[in-house]
Amino acid sequence: MKQIFVRDLPNYVKQTIAAFFLVRSKQTRQKKSGEPYLSMTLVDRSGEVEARCWDNLAALPAFDRDDFIKIKGAVDVFNNKPQLTVHKLRRAEESEIELGDYLACSARDPEEMFAELAAVVAAVGDPNLRALLEALLADPAIAAGVKRAPAATSLHHAYLGGLLEHILSLCGLCRVVAAHYGSLNLDLLVAAAVLHDLGKIRELEYARSASYTTEGHLLGHIVLGLQMMAEKTVALPGFPPRLRAVLEHLVVSHHGEYEFGSPKLPMFPEAMVFHFLDNLDSKLNSMETQLRTDLKLSGDWTGKNVALGRALLRREQYLRPEAGGGAAAEPPPEAQAEAHGNDVHPAAPADGEAGSRPVEARAPQRTLFTAGAGKEGDRVS
Ligand SMILES: [Fe+2]
Ligand SMILES: [Fe+2]
Repeated sequence: MKQIFVRDLPNYVKQTIAAFFLVRSKQTRQKKSGEPYLSMTLVDRSGEVEARCWDNLAALPAFDRDDFIKIKGAVDVFNNKPQLTVHKLRRAEESEIELGDYLACSARDPEEMFAELAAVVAAVGDPNLRALLEALLADPAIAAGVKRAPAATSLHHAYLGGLLEHILSLCGLCRVVAAHYGSLNLDLLVAAAVLHDLGKIRELEYARSASYTTEGHLLGHIVLGLQMMAEKTVALPGFPPRLRAVLEHLVVSHHGEYEFGSPKLPMFPEAMVFHFLDNLDSKLNSMETQLRTDLKLSGDWTGKNVALGRALLRREQYLRPEAGGGAAAEPPPEAQAEAHGNDVHPAAPADGEAGSRPVEARAPQRTLFTAGAGKEGDRVS
């Protein structure tokens, strides 16, 4: 039974704890002296924490990424955040683990969200579009994937059910924007919301921690999404080829720029609008998640949001009356990171869809979904 979660660690600073975690990553590095030490990122459903084992690596039991471990160690502080110094560790027995304690998931029920999506699709006026979307959602493998997949490995909606949350949020945004700009075709926008990231259910593997499948590494979710769409349109006799081309363009252009993985730039209004809505939804989720889960022990700034390439201001804390309206009493976050040298995560996302966006073209990394923390690993959208 898990008793101490990552989010609780600020309460245990300078204390020794024993606690279970899931290993998200594990690397052997070298101290300045040349001696090896173990660097780990440990997670549970509440977040992630860095851990170090400085000595006696040879005495450690064999374990790997995605294993559950029990550690005994000290809660130290590094970069104004808790960091674990591990004294002892062992692999956890399956009987000691409640999977739900370790996998972050949407606050919403996936079945309820799926029913909401089915209702949105049923309201699509264009019969060809509706038939295609219904055929996709009626596919048991796709339906199961949509209910469970994260939208990314780390940068936004990076938790079970995150993809479905993202799709529904975009459907809502599409309705609002189409009501504002009367010239837009709402059916096309809703189709883009459903289709644009559907390839992620094949791009990502998410049984325990989120990582890229081999075909995800090789092809990416845009190509995989096109394939899924093609599989269904061939089974729909009379599906208009030009409508199919328009849908394909909505999918391939949704990252908005060549350097963010789109082979074509948005070339009609719905494509441009959808790109911006996708960007908005992913970045806002990235910010909200970080503000909710960041472990910084003090100050008005969060740690650096890797997806967005900047720290975030804790606005409510900064504006609280007792703060006196002065400047945030700490050095700029960038200066802090530099001052602490190379044990800080590199700023650049590996292949993300978020924030500063030129991320997806870079090599994907295996990451774990956590309740928050945008990290290297995938795009924000
Ligand atoms: Fe995408
Ligand atoms: Fe997206």
